[in-house]
Amino acid sequence: MIFEARGLTKRYGGLTAVSGVDMELAQGDLVGLIGPNGAGKTTCFNLITGADAPTSGTIRFKGEDVTRARDFQMARKGVARTFQNIRLWKEMDVLDNVRAVCRAGEPCGFAAAALRLPRFRRVERAVTEKATSLLQRLGLGDVLAESPGDLPYGDQRRLEIARALALDPDLLLLDEPAAGMNPTEKARLMETVRDLRREFDLTILLIDHDMKFVMGICERIYVLDHGERIAHGTPAEIRCDKKVIEAYLGSEC
Ligand SMILES: Nc1ncnc2c1ncn2[C@@H]1O[C@H](COP(=O)(O)OP(=O)(O)OP(=O)(O)O)[C@@H](O)[C@H]1O
Ligand SMILES: [Mg+2]
Repeated sequence: MIFEARGLTKRYGGLTAVSGVDMELAQGDLVGLIGPNGAGKTTCFNLITGADAPTSGTIRFKGEDVTRARDFQMARKGVARTFQNIRLWKEMDVLDNVRAVCRAGEPCGFAAAALRLPRFRRVERAVTEKATSLLQRLGLGDVLAESPGDLPYGDQRRLEIARALALDPDLLLLDEPAAGMNPTEKARLMETVRDLRREFDLTILLIDHDMKFVMGICERIYVLDHGERIAHGTPAEIRCDKKVIEAYLGSEC
C-alpha cells in the first residue's frame, strides 16, 4: 500500500465533516471518491495533503506515519493536488504558474541566485524546460505567456494538473477535475488522466460528480455520505449499491 488512512475523522466545532473513514491505495491505483455535496470529500483531500490536521485517525504514506505532517512536507514527500475552486496565480503567466513550483535538481541557494551564478542559470533553464514540457503534455503549449484568468475553464483545470505534476508526485489528488467541462473535454480528460498515470507512474485519487467520468476511469470507488464511508467497490458494485442509490445516485441500476 502506498497510502493508508485509518479511522480518519475531522470535526469542525459540532460538525463532523469526516467520520472514521478507512481508505487504502496501492501503487498505480486509479480510485474515485464520490458522495453528495458536503459529504466530506474535499475535507478528506485537505487531511491527506496536510492542509488540515485530522481530529483523530492515522494516515500512512509510503510506510511512514504522516498524520501530523504539514502541507509543504506532504508535497515534498510526493503528494500533490488540484483544487475544487481553481487556485491559480492570476498575476503570473501560465508558464510561471508551473515554473514557480517546479523541481529540477537541487535548489541552488540564495547567493547563487542573487549573483546569477552559472549554477543558478542552469537550474533556471532546467526548470523552464520541465515546465514547458509539462504544459505541452497537457495541451497548453500555445498559451504559455497568457494569463490563467483569460483561459477557458477546461484549460485552467488542466493547468492545475500541470502544476501539480511539477512537484513530481507519487500520489495525485484531483478535486473535481471535470467540473465545468463540456462532454468532449471530459472525454479527452479521461484519456489524459489514464495516460498520465502510466507516464508518470502515479497513484490517483479523484473526486467528481460526473458519474460517467468517475465510473469510466476508476477501478474502485469510495462513497462518502455525511462524512462516513457508506460503500467501497468496483463501479459496477457501487452503481447497484442500495445505500449509494439512496444517498447519492438516486436511481436504480
Ligand atoms: N474549514 C471548515 N470549517 C467548518 N466547516 C467546514 C470546513 N470545511 C468543510 N466544512 C464542512 O464540512 C462538510 C464537508 O465539506 P466538504 O467540502 O468536505 O464536502 P464535499 O464532499 O467536498 O462537498 P462538495 O461536493 O460540495 O464539494 C460541510 O458541511 C462543510 O460545510
Ligand atoms: Mg468538495
